Amino acid sequence: MKKNILVTGAAGQIGTELVPALRERYGDERVIAAGHRTPLPDEVRDGGPHITLDVANQADVVAAIRDHDIEVIYHLASILSALAEANRQNAHAVNVNGLYHVLEAAVAGDVRQVNVPSSIAAFGPDTPPVNTPNETLQRPNTLYGIAKVLGELWGNYYATKLGLDVRGLRLPGIISWKTEPTAGTTDYAVAIFYGALREGRYTCYLRPDTSLPMMYMPDCINAIIGLAEADMAKLKHHADFNVAGVSFTPSELTAAIQRRMPDFEIDYDIDPLRQGIADSWPDSLDDSVARAEWGWRPTYDLDAMVDDMLANLSIKLR
Ligand code: SER
Repeated sequence: MKKNILVTGAAGQIGTELVPALRERYGDERVIAAGHRTPLPDEVRDGGPHITLDVANQADVVAAIRDHDIEVIYHLASILSALAEANRQNAHAVNVNGLYHVLEAAVAGDVRQVNVPSSIAAFGPDTPPVNTPNETLQRPNTLYGIAKVLGELWGNYYATKLGLDVRGLRLPGIISWKTEPTAGTTDYAVAIFYGALREGRYTCYLRPDTSLPMMYMPDCINAIIGLAEADMAKLKHHADFNVAGVSFTPSELTAAIQRRMPDFEIDYDIDPLRQGIADSWPDSLDDSVARAEWGWRPTYDLDAMVDDMLANLSIKLR
């Protein structure tokens, strides 16, 4: 019987925290952390098995699944929204071909389950932006979002037609203090805390009134593991669950930081690329399907998240 868990993108913002959480739950030796260009953080590298894996290389993906006796995959390797617009070829190689390689290798290698996050980027400018329903018009206009819709549809296809248990959440912007995200559109909500603690100020690239769905990392990890462990018999959806944490604008986040750091200052220098992407995404999500099918509940609101971010990041930056 196959027994191990493969995490691609293990050096990324989510991978860095998912790998230790999975190791604690299932055992250090069972969780293989796969990174590519970015070096793995010490905690991930020293805490259990790790490999170098380029998901754009099909033969390498097949070999990793075979050689490491993989039962379950968390496929996190991805080029985020802003970087994807700047490098179409690399975005396609990782976000489209990489996912295809993982799904095909999973079928061929008798993998039991593939968990692959989708994103709020799977929605577009024609999507109803407030309390966006699980089932609605999507039609994204970013390369990252187009690849995420493809991933959702592939996930549903591989699950229903090929019997591969594919599961996925539409993750909002993720806020965390351990590892910074790389070139996404929601990154301001992490960078603002570094600015506040290092310099007492931050220049934001989104307009102050830009509302986006966000989630604090502990809720994100609970959501990913919660869906992976959910009873299959209760799931009607597969790779396309809305999950909401907390929605806010840069000015609301600034006010929450200023309540704790009254001298914190913000100014705005709008980046048209990322503003355009943010404007095409929902303001807030309706996650009632995830709540009903597998019991999803977030725990962090804006104030709890800001308190925890400031406490942990100030220790890290000391
Ligand atoms: N956080 C991601 C981004 O901004 C969205 O999935 O690209």
